Amino acid sequence: EKGGYEHFMLKEILEQPKAVRDTISPRIQNGEVVLDGVELDADYLHGLDKIYVIACGSSYHVGVAAKYILEKLLRKPVEVALASEFRYCDPIVSSRTLALVISQSGETIDTLAALREARRRGARVLSVVNVVGSTIARESDEVLYTWAGPEIAVATTKAYSTQLALVDLIALYAARQMGTIPEAEYAAAVAALEGLPELLEKVLEQREQIQYLASLYFNHPSVFFIGRNLDYAVGLEGSLKLKEISYLHSEAYAAGELKHGTISLIENGTLVVALAGYAPLFEKTMSNVVEVKSRGADVLGLTMEGFEKPMSEAVNHTLTVPAAHPMLLPSLEVVPMQLFAYYVALMHGCDIDKPRNLAKSVTVE
Ligand code: M6R
Repeated sequence: EKGGYEHFMLKEILEQPKAVRDTISPRIQNGEVVLDGVELDADYLHGLDKIYVIACGSSYHVGVAAKYILEKLLRKPVEVALASEFRYCDPIVSSRTLALVISQSGETIDTLAALREARRRGARVLSVVNVVGSTIARESDEVLYTWAGPEIAVATTKAYSTQLALVDLIALYAARQMGTIPEAEYAAAVAALEGLPELLEKVLEQREQIQYLASLYFNHPSVFFIGRNLDYAVGLEGSLKLKEISYLHSEAYAAGELKHGTISLIENGTLVVALAGYAPLFEKTMSNVVEVKSRGADVLGLTMEGFEKPMSEAVNHTLTVPAAHPMLLPSLEVVPMQLFAYYVALMHGCDIDKPRNLAKSVTVE
C-alpha cells in the first residue's frame, strides 16, 4: 500500500504533482477559474471588512502564505488566526467578514470550534477541506475540497500543497470578480497555475541532491529557517516538518527579526536554512545571511533559478526551484523542505510516518 516506498510520507511527497493537478484542473475552464458553484460576487467581496483565515499547524502555515497572496491581489485586510487563539480572543467578526477555514482532516476540534464561533458572530464560512463529508465540511456555509486523496503520514505534505493551490485559485477568482487584477496578469497567473504540477515534477527531480545535503547536515543540533514574505511562510512549514519527524530543535524567523534577539543563538555550527526565492526581497534576506554566516552558521540556501549565483557566493550549499510566477513560490519551495526533513529523519532512524506524541487528527483541545 506504500507503493513500494519505505514510508507513506515519501510516497505522499511524490504524489504532489498529481494531487495539485486534481485540485486545480477541474477548476480552470477556458482560462477562467470556477469554484464548484461557490459564488463570491463583486459587491459581496467589495463590501467585506476583513477576511479571517482560521486553522492549526500546517494549515495555519498555508494561512500565513494566504495572507500575503490575498492582500496583494484583493487589497482587503486579511487576518490569520490560530484556531485555538481565535476562540478565546473575542474576535472582531461581522456579517461582512469572510472566514476562510482550512483543515485537511475536517475534524480538528479547535478549528471546528472556531468555525462555530465565527458563524455565531455572523461570518460567512468558506472552508478548504480534504476529507469529504467531515464535520468542518458539513458545518461550513460552503466548502471547497482539496483533492489530495487520503493522507496517511502524520506529517502533512500533499494536503498542504493542495491547500496552497486552492488558496491561489480562490485569490485569482476573487481578484477577477473584484476587478483588482488586470486582465493580462490574470491570464498569466492562471496559465502559471496550470503549469504548477509540471514544475513540481522538476523540483522532485532534486531528490538525490537533497538526500546528500541531509547527510551533510543531519547532525546539526539546532536549525533556524529564515525568510521574508512568502519565504517566511515556507520557513514556518519547513521548520515544523523538520522538528516533528526528526525531533531536531528548529525555529522559523522572519529574517529581519533575527537581530531582535534570535541572532544571539547563532554560533559555530548552527544550521541556518535561508529561503530567498521572493525576488523583490532577495537582497534584504541575503544581508541577513551574511550576518549569520559571519557568526559561524552553516547556511543552506534556497532560491529561484536566476539567483543561484549571488546566493552561492554567500552560503555553503544552494538549492533552487524553477523560475516561476511569484504566487507559485511557496508551492515550489516547500517540496525541498519536505524532502530535507524526510531525509534528515531517515538518517536519524526516526519513526517517520508516526512521530512520537503526535496524532494525525487532533480531536481534543
Ligand atoms: O487536519 P488539519 O489540517 O485541521 O490539521 C491541523 C494540524 O494538526 C496539522 O496541519 C499538523 O500541523 C500537521 N500534521 C503537521 O504536519
